[in-house]
Amino acid sequence: MDPYKNRPSSAFNSPFWTTNSGAPVWNNNSSLTVGARGPILLEDYHLVEKLANFDRERIPERVVHARGASAKGFFEVTHDISHLTCADFLRAPGVQTPVIVRFSTVIHERGSPETLRDPRGFAVKFYTREGNFDLVGNNFPVFFVRDGMKFPDMVHALKPNPKSHIQENWRILDFFSHHPESLHMFTFLFDDIGVPQDYRHMDGSGVHTFTLINKAGKAQYVKFHWKPTCGVKNLLEDEAIRVGGANHSHATQDLYNSIAAGNYPEWKLFIQIMDPVHEDRFDFDPLDVTKTWPEDTFPLHPVGRMVLNKNIDNFFAENEQLAFCPSIIVPGIYYSDDKLLQTRIFSYSDTQRHRLGPNYLQLPANAPKCTHHNNHHEGFMNFMHRDEEVNYFPSRFDPVRHAEKYPIPTAICNGKREKCIIEKENNFKQPGERYRSFTPDRQERFIKRWIEALSDPRVTYEIRSIWISYWSQVA
Ligand code: HEM
Repeated sequence: MDPYKNRPSSAFNSPFWTTNSGAPVWNNNSSLTVGARGPILLEDYHLVEKLANFDRERIPERVVHARGASAKGFFEVTHDISHLTCADFLRAPGVQTPVIVRFSTVIHERGSPETLRDPRGFAVKFYTREGNFDLVGNNFPVFFVRDGMKFPDMVHALKPNPKSHIQENWRILDFFSHHPESLHMFTFLFDDIGVPQDYRHMDGSGVHTFTLINKAGKAQYVKFHWKPTCGVKNLLEDEAIRVGGANHSHATQDLYNSIAAGNYPEWKLFIQIMDPVHEDRFDFDPLDVTKTWPEDTFPLHPVGRMVLNKNIDNFFAENEQLAFCPSIIVPGIYYSDDKLLQTRIFSYSDTQRHRLGPNYLQLPANAPKCTHHNNHHEGFMNFMHRDEEVNYFPSRFDPVRHAEKYPIPTAICNGKREKCIIEKENNFKQPGERYRSFTPDRQERFIKRWIEALSDPRVTYEIRSIWISYWSQVA
């Protein structure tokens, strides 16, 4: 018997029950008892192991985006952007890269309905030859706040009341009345697209400004956008009640069934491009996540397409244990100085070390599919097989060398240390433009949703007046 052959996998199942350590189980129905009626003996190791595993089946759900569905497929480059980036997976049209995608709602729990008014997460992990690239975005192209310092309070306000465990508009409107930068995001959330029909019929956006950098070191700011080939569709209030009432997992089911039926969802990827040299030319700050870049000035350039053609094999392994992180990038793609993005660079791997354990990147769904090597090993649940004798650097016994240098942005950062707001807040212009672009019936539905939210009896006269003042400045 080769003791190293059968790694833990259902591919190596024995035809009979065993304990976790492989011993045959001859009775999986009855506990070991003294006599037919009990009591049970503690020495029934199989029973104890079975219960102990069951007792620990749940891991902490994500602190946000707990409810989600995932699927696998590929990304294919359709347009050459090798003049903009040295990213290997974007090197030429026709190049395909495997992906896993997770769509999610944001606020409510792991089992909550998928028909709630909430942004939707749109996270894509590209398994490239130069490591994974995670594009962890949403369906809306902007965000509520622009400084990560506000994020935990924002989530607390949006989540259920800590006393009653009920989501309440007075808490949400109280919090955001202090933050008028959220108005633009609310023109998406309270619009018809605030409840997408399902995960297949929604846009995706990287939201932040990222940097593409080519071999010569020239950096360009970009924004990423996904557009579904089957179009964007939403549920109006009465439809959402009907769909959600009949099936609280309708979007997960729609994704799973579509893929199983061979009706593969597809999105086109576009980028908007801005030369960083021009970043001061506008009445908004291009790194501000509460702003979009106008498409007449920054047109959408096609880059590729993503097709989801494979359902996951196991929800726990490929959804619950899946870990996306905006800091996971590849050569040719870099962050920007966007403060919110900078906060996210810290937060995701931090929560994942807590949620999944320090070796979460060894889990199959998260591990790179290319060769990789470093000495960050050991810790809880390290299951990587290693047989090297040298686990330090540098060493004359270890031939591993540095990778080839790749370009990163060279722009000089300077300024004094401070805690402050950005110069060009311009909180009202873009939400106004968006509201005015709605047809009159869409505007009416938008206003009706606001009237309903502001009618919460615990919204005070002061809070209501602030919101009316904000929306008056927008319109
Ligand atoms: C400073 C601001 C933010 C912080 C601190 C933050 C933090 C988090 C945390 C802790 C998680 C749970 C991750 C996990 O347990 O695996 C999460 C999930 C997620 N966040 Fe954020 N977030 C922020 C802003 C944003 C923004 C602006 C977007 C959209 C561009 C976004 C999109 C997502 C998505 C899609 C997920 C779910 C990923 C998945 O499917 O596993 N977040 N966020």
